Amino acid sequence: MFGPDQPVILQLIEAPIEKAMKALEGVAMELDDCAFPLLKGIVQTDDAKIGFKDANWCLLIGAKPRGPGMERADLLKDNGRIFITQGQIIDAVAAEDARIAVVGNPANTNCMIAASQAKRLPADRFTAMVRLDQNRAQTQLAKKAGVDLTTVKNIFIYGNHSPSMFPAFAHATIGGRPATEVITDSAWLQGPFCETVGKRGAAIIAARGASSAASAANALVDHVRELVTPGAIHSIAVKSNGVYGFDANVWAGVPVRTTTPGSYEVITDYKMDDFAKSKLAATNKELVEERAFVADLIP
Ligand code: LMR
Repeated sequence: MFGPDQPVILQLIEAPIEKAMKALEGVAMELDDCAFPLLKGIVQTDDAKIGFKDANWCLLIGAKPRGPGMERADLLKDNGRIFITQGQIIDAVAAEDARIAVVGNPANTNCMIAASQAKRLPADRFTAMVRLDQNRAQTQLAKKAGVDLTTVKNIFIYGNHSPSMFPAFAHATIGGRPATEVITDSAWLQGPFCETVGKRGAAIIAARGASSAASAANALVDHVRELVTPGAIHSIAVKSNGVYGFDANVWAGVPVRTTTPGSYEVITDYKMDDFAKSKLAATNKELVEERAFVADLIP
């Protein structure tokens, strides 16, 4: 993924610096211990200018988590300030062909903020991760149908990486048949299915006392791998430009087809029924509200 001569840059933000650098040492040791054949070097730094210098892929996995008593608006603002700096530095020092993938929450809006700072890199280089939601949806459909998950295809995520997201089950197939023919319980699809996928992140935090880690890392590998694989069809959050009724200036999860390594086109021809339209409107509303909260941070 990083190419034979590309070192992996490890960077931590917003933690007491000595503790963070010590933790970074541990992460680097673990990476070494994985004996990845493509890992040719590691640079440990807390300086974004060094971290992103000439980077082809900038994976922004960190963000400030919500603390006790913090309002969503405060979280958006605090993270907004972090992603302004990250966006500016990436735009200044990353490689000419740089691609940016944002994981840290609120991922869609953080991605929008970082992209808004870029004068050199085009907005379509900045994507946010909804692949974890796609993977979660695939597993839930397979479990309900009692089938191997590899038989579940074409399940895509629309909107925000938050409980408002919409996993568009009507377009999914199971064993080559419409998912809605295999799972005829439409109340389950519209209710518990959407809710389980949307609130899975919170359920994991409640169960293990920490945010998803292994599944999020795995989803990011999926996100990048499919973005460098021409022909792959997958969900990522991108600048909407108005597709599927999303506000043109928000970053919304949509299905895309990878065209050339790192580039994609949005698949725009999925038809939406009334239920889907109401879900799309709700997640769009949330994205627009998030944008409004951070309007003063966007040039
Ligand atoms: C997840 O979906 O697992 C995470 O985004 C949840 C979170 O808030 O960290």
